[in-house]
Amino acid sequence: MWNKSCEICCRYWTIHEKDNEKLNFDKDKKIKDNILNNKTFAIIKPDAIKNKFTGLIYDRILKNGFSVLSAKLLKMTKKQAMGFYFIHRDKPFYEELTTFMSSGPCMVLALEKENAVENWRKIIGSTNPEEAKNGTIRKDFANNLSENAVHGSDSDENAEKEIAFFFSNSEVIGNQ
Ligand code: CMP
Repeated sequence: MWNKSCEICCRYWTIHEKDNEKLNFDKDKKIKDNILNNKTFAIIKPDAIKNKFTGLIYDRILKNGFSVLSAKLLKMTKKQAMGFYFIHRDKPFYEELTTFMSSGPCMVLALEKENAVENWRKIIGSTNPEEAKNGTIRKDFANNLSENAVHGSDSDENAEKEIAFFFSNSEVIGNQ
């Protein structure tokens, strides 16, 4: 429930709401400059790091023609995970998801390629690895639906918000 004194709500507000005005301004500029749909946000999740798939997944990123604009290895706090997945706060799997995402190190990445969101989602495959096509990252490296190796943004707007959640402007190559 929304609560002004809750740190997670405030973080969500800052990233998702307060910046909307600026994002809309930037979006108009980017549409004009034809560079809106070239970025996405990805996570190599704790299961994949633990299973030593980081290098193999990073290799797929590069072999599929993505440029890495920024990357860092970090361990999310429970609060960070709750903030990042705030959109799923009412889902029955929210507690399990945020506990898992804060259970160990992960790698967060800002990626660039033409139609980045769509292309990355195609390469990672269905959320449930049992339904993922052969050759996709989740088919090859995921444990199960909750430990599904990687995350990918679902829209250009969310890609911008998710990149901003983990990276400052100056940490993203091309923003300098
Ligand atoms: P991701 O792409 O990171 O976005 C939300 C995550 O929630 C998703 O990957 C899954 O890991 C997780 N998820 C989605 N549906 C379920 C579910 N039914 N049970 C557990 N986890 C889920």
